[in-house]
Amino acid sequence: MKLLFAAAEIFPYAKTGGLADVAQALPTTLAKEIDVLSVMPLYDFIDREKFALTAMNESFQITLGKDIYEISLFEGMNQGVRTLFVYEATLCHCITPYGNKNGDYLSNDIRFGIFSKTVVILAQMFEIDVLHLNDWHTALSALWAKEILPELHVIFTIHNLAFQGHFPRESMERLGLREHYFTPEGIEFWGGVNCMKAGIAYSDVVTTVSPTYAKEIMLPEFGCGLEGFIQVHSPKLHGILNGIDTVLFDPLIDPALPKNYGLEKFTNKKKNKILFCEEHGLRDVQKPLIVFIGRFTEQKGLDVIIEALPKLLTMKFNFAILGEGDEAMAETLKIASKNHDNFSIQFGYDESLSHRMYAAADLLLMPSRFEPCGLNQLISLRYGTIPIVNDVGGLHDSVRDIDDTDRSVCGQGIVLSKLSSNAIVRSVKRALQLFTSTKLFLKISKANMHCDVSFEESAKSYLKLYRKLV
Ligand code: GLC
Repeated sequence: MKLLFAAAEIFPYAKTGGLADVAQALPTTLAKEIDVLSVMPLYDFIDREKFALTAMNESFQITLGKDIYEISLFEGMNQGVRTLFVYEATLCHCITPYGNKNGDYLSNDIRFGIFSKTVVILAQMFEIDVLHLNDWHTALSALWAKEILPELHVIFTIHNLAFQGHFPRESMERLGLREHYFTPEGIEFWGGVNCMKAGIAYSDVVTTVSPTYAKEIMLPEFGCGLEGFIQVHSPKLHGILNGIDTVLFDPLIDPALPKNYGLEKFTNKKKNKILFCEEHGLRDVQKPLIVFIGRFTEQKGLDVIIEALPKLLTMKFNFAILGEGDEAMAETLKIASKNHDNFSIQFGYDESLSHRMYAAADLLLMPSRFEPCGLNQLISLRYGTIPIVNDVGGLHDSVRDIDDTDRSVCGQGIVLSKLSSNAIVRSVKRALQLFTSTKLFLKISKANMHCDVSFEESAKSYLKLYRKLV
């Protein structure tokens, strides 16, 4: 079986979120069983030399509406997976994949239209059996596959329903889409075009990244306006929990860590904490260290953390944040960190620093408002760092409360009863109390390191779905 896995971002070439990690880790795991090709755009900011990307001989044109686009192809190897890169100027001339400070690029309909149509041509060129699409950037491929290559089997994964690719009605013409798709059953949405709907409507199978999120997206609270539409397509919807690359995320060999550790050399974890606290001006290294790593968005519950911050910063622990996003949130955090020696903030996306923080921390705070899967809690389990999470989506499926005896979920942590600043303060209090029971805290941290957070099981579920299709 030959699989083509298409995504707008793949680690390490381009990453804005968990999609990139999954688009690296899942194909790597699948490649042990089947023939896998990955494909992504060759954005201008990708360093071709560093990643040893080479030009292929193939180049061709595609048409969208009245316009013709020149496509050239490049290739490289990513952890054993052959990866194709699509180059076209409109698509690739950018400094980040989706937008800049002023918001999303206005040409995103055309940019990802170009990518999506090219993906279908590549499926034809490389005699692909199953095309695996990810998120709205590739969703139009499902529609074009039905037209151009009806025998191709298509699976579409929703990583985050909050991003759907909404465009004005005029995009229909710009993309050269036939009018009959512009219906509520098709890709019409409040008078405009919704790319995500194409992925859901025209794929043979739809998956999302956790069983709980698969149920949640059929409810108004999480469905982002598509709950009814998803209910209609629910017979082909499956929830498969993500994993992480357990080689890239292994505290025993992780090159980013000053001190490597595993279950045996677990005392080294504390050395990482001491070094981190010293470097970031956090006083009293004996205190527990709690970290938050992620985008500054309401999805991640950072606004609620900010609400709880005045109380949190009076409590006996060190708090460190790494991330970027909403500027107002960033500003509030910056001011708070200037006034407190138990709070440090680092702005930006820094892969290596994030690894060091997972290793240094005693606890990870992740009170997401909604979380399709979430990878940080999985990384934290792998690094023996106890997660404090909200009870939603993939967090529900990967972390059970330490007082809960249900063994169906492997990881243990502190689960918020609901999302509120008071609930966060209460959970942190509980965590600090747990920290004083040194033996129990150590037992849970170590037990978490035993959990299987790899992609092996999930890859088996995807393989089953692919095999059913062909
Ligand atoms: C998105 C989701 C996140 C998920 C990731 C990978 O970033 O927000 O929950 O883990 O995609 O599927």
